[in-house]
Amino acid sequence: MNKNISVHIKNQPLVGTIERDSFLFQEEFMQLGIGKTYCVLNYGCQANVRDGETLSGMLEMMSFQKVDKIEEADVVIFNTCAVRQTAEEHVFGKLSAYKSYKENHPGRIFALCGCMAQEENVIERLLKKHPYVDLIFGTHNIDRFPQLLQRVYEEKQTIVEVEAKPGGVIENLPVERSSSYKAFVNIMYGCNKFCTYCIVPYTRGRERSRLKENIIEEIRTFQAQGGKEVTLLGQNVNAYGKDLKLEDGFTDLLIDCAKTGVDRIRFYTSHPKDYSVTTIEAMRDYPNIMKSLHLPVQSGNNEILRRMGRGYTIEHYFQLFDDLKARIPEITFTTDIIVGFPGETDEQFEDTLKLVDHCKFDLAYTFVYSPREGTPAAKMPDDIPLSVKKERLQTLNARISSYAKANNETYVGKTLEVLCEGPSKKNLAILSGYSKENKLVNFKGENIQAGELVNVEITDAKSYTLDGQAV
Ligand code: SAH
Ligand code: SF4
Ligand code: F3S
Repeated sequence: MNKNISVHIKNQPLVGTIERDSFLFQEEFMQLGIGKTYCVLNYGCQANVRDGETLSGMLEMMSFQKVDKIEEADVVIFNTCAVRQTAEEHVFGKLSAYKSYKENHPGRIFALCGCMAQEENVIERLLKKHPYVDLIFGTHNIDRFPQLLQRVYEEKQTIVEVEAKPGGVIENLPVERSSSYKAFVNIMYGCNKFCTYCIVPYTRGRERSRLKENIIEEIRTFQAQGGKEVTLLGQNVNAYGKDLKLEDGFTDLLIDCAKTGVDRIRFYTSHPKDYSVTTIEAMRDYPNIMKSLHLPVQSGNNEILRRMGRGYTIEHYFQLFDDLKARIPEITFTTDIIVGFPGETDEQFEDTLKLVDHCKFDLAYTFVYSPREGTPAAKMPDDIPLSVKKERLQTLNARISSYAKANNETYVGKTLEVLCEGPSKKNLAILSGYSKENKLVNFKGENIQAGELVNVEITDAKSYTLDGQAV
């Protein structure tokens, strides 16, 4: 059966004013999901997960009930990521795997949203190869989801609604959090950095900050409901408030968040170029700001950093790193690294290994460079053979893992505070959770509930986990 398609793609220049608005839920949608179920599949970063929580919140308001499996859901949402080609192929693969299922269940709705929906080539491929997807909507149209879903039910045609624009800030969006004691709180949206390899500024629009009072209110509400840990989210949190013309906006916000008294505050992601000394001091001075920092470096070589458009040198990174370590000796570091950027020589890759030797990260997310259509780097020849990229990745991962293990061994015999998340995924007799240092701790203990802060004595260390016993 060939369905009609309604396509609404709006291309506005990516500069312009930021609209501020408040979400208004129309009562007519409240009945839409009575007796129906939904499932949201998230494929991306924390911002993507947080969007998934917003969509869940809307679906709950529309009276849908949450289920875990695609097969049980009347509405399935593929909340996608575009950061690397592998992320996209993963989603296309999933859609293909459910092609005949969907064709046998035409009454069930497949919706695709998130960063992939912002790419024109993806929309073309979806309409051509996966015409059974009923609804495609972009990151800027998330607040319109209830209307769009109703149209899908009424009009029985494929609906595409995507806009390329600087983006807005919409408050009062509903949220159904995936945890009752850990929360992601957006402090800003979008990114202005335009690193040459990265698609995020194109899929998420310009940097725009939420007002401080709205952020604090979200934290206070969560805290009043028993929440323990808040992670402040932004692609470059250190730029918070620049669009609002605030001086040192991020540090000021961070301190006010700390003053709410919530047990744990983290923030994600920091950019080495914008990280200020005052933020280091706030981290040092407020006990509820966790002393673990994700500080993506991407490469250890200045020429590569320059061509990536990162805006800092490796000397600057080391200076910041050493300063943080000097002022906060117990701090732990994680990072992101890309190997095989166009033209990366063996020597330039060696510089990345030297960087790892210096920083001895606790963990690093390492990636093989993936060209993204429309980014400046995609025009550079992607000249490193895949076999070389993979070899570099392996070498790098082995190096990182050896330092991670050595770091973890220093915790054996010490007692760490762990926010219990319930039984470990692999073994129901073992509890697990994250320590203040952001270490995943598997531990034995009795009568401990998820959401409790517990002291755990560390008995053993692996590269990326610690074992222990509650005390
Ligand atoms: N805003 C964050 C990260 C967003 S994307 C930051 O600036 O750190 C997360 C990570 O994906 C990046 O840090 C980078 O390491 C990686 N990444 C982004 N684009 C990529 C690409 N085209 N190929 C491979 N890795 C990429
Ligand atoms: Fe992408 Fe760079 Fe922005 Fe991070 S800072 S989201 S890597 S453009
Ligand atoms: Fe992916 Fe979009 Fe996040 S591209 S990493 S889901 S901002």
